Amino acid sequence: MDPATNPYRPGAGRRPPVLAGREPILDAFSTVRRRAEELGEGDRSWVLNGLRGVGKTVLLNELLGQVTQRGWITAKVEATSSTPLSLSLSQALVRAMRTATGQHPVPRLRRLLGVFEAFYLKLNTATQTVSLGADVDLVKGIADTGRFADDLAALFEVLGETAVDLGIGTLILVDELQEAAPSDLTAVNTAVHQIGQGATPLPVMFVGAGLPSLPAQLADATSYAERLYDYRPIGLLSADAARTALLGPSAERGVGWEPDALDQALAIAGGYPYFIQAVGKHVWDAAVTDPITADDVSVGGESARREVDEGLYRSRWERATPAQRDVLRALATTGGEAAVAMSDLVVATGKRRVSDLSVARNELIKKGLVYAPERGVLAFTVPGMSGFVTRQ
Ligand SMILES: Nc1ncnc2c1ncn2[C@@H]1O[C@H](COP(=O)(O)OP(=O)(O)OP(=O)(O)O)[C@@H](O)[C@H]1O
Ligand SMILES: [Mg+2]
Repeated sequence: MDPATNPYRPGAGRRPPVLAGREPILDAFSTVRRRAEELGEGDRSWVLNGLRGVGKTVLLNELLGQVTQRGWITAKVEATSSTPLSLSLSQALVRAMRTATGQHPVPRLRRLLGVFEAFYLKLNTATQTVSLGADVDLVKGIADTGRFADDLAALFEVLGETAVDLGIGTLILVDELQEAAPSDLTAVNTAVHQIGQGATPLPVMFVGAGLPSLPAQLADATSYAERLYDYRPIGLLSADAARTALLGPSAERGVGWEPDALDQALAIAGGYPYFIQAVGKHVWDAAVTDPITADDVSVGGESARREVDEGLYRSRWERATPAQRDVLRALATTGGEAAVAMSDLVVATGKRRVSDLSVARNELIKKGLVYAPERGVLAFTVPGMSGFVTRQ
């Protein structure tokens, strides 16, 4: 089939042609949105946790898209270990303020802008002024104590009050939240905790996305985090959703699949969203005629596997030292895709104590290859990594 019209989109954060199987979460979000707009009332904040490549970023963008058109105040950042969240978030909020001044009557934004400017200048000490798209009278003493947790909580409150007044909500999105420093996670928890406490919770919604280790990291930061968020694990797609994700995009181009070709492709992709896009793309390019045949899937499936091996698994494998690879091998052979107890990894690697593995374990976690779903247990962060490791 003509590669120029290939509809599939393997990669990171690329909007899939058909966003399959996420209706429940999108419906839940519509409810939150309507509650904010119609009642001026907020709901619990969310955490989207899931393995690499399951579609967390794509979902965040989808939520963002739903409300930016409706004039909500929105900010989205990606946490990194090298930049404090306070800085990246304050910068994203500058953009949010500038957008808001273009969309809403400036007099009703004055207080927010004044409080935000003081908040911003306190955090960005090297800066003297910040341009928010309107004349602003600095409002001191609300969100500028210099303690990020308190200031963020105070800012959220003013954001919420302004949103109620304007009949909108505020949406703050942080991707890769597991990368944020523990003190930043504490600050986020504190601020999210505060906005829920009024008689009417303010319509400020925080959505954090990250690896499956994120709920435990948030709970380590403040113990009430377990109840603070609505945790929404993002997993592999159901059989029906996977079928829709694969069939939908080609159907939009008027191209069909023979039933056995489709079954074979779905078996290769295993419900993993990134694989579905990779398999779809390579099978499309390999296909000679419409409908797509099992033979096309054999050829395309092989190139898809190569792309995924090279693009996803090999770079991770090569980042590991020989000692770390021993742990990865033990993890793959003992657990396959499932999590494995450290004590079993000790046996499988021929070591004596759990502490013999702790250096390798910690380094592998830091490199993002594995995570601890719970204490004393290890699992891969990428679906299908065990198969790759076994093939090495
Ligand atoms: N619901 C879906 N249906 C079909 N394809 C999807 C779906 N969700 C995501 N994808 C595709 O999967 C790939 C990965 O998506 P995305 O980058 O959002 O994952 P992620 O969970 O953010 O990964 P990471 O943890 O590495 O950041 C993209 O190619 C995207 O188009
Ligand atoms: Mg992502």
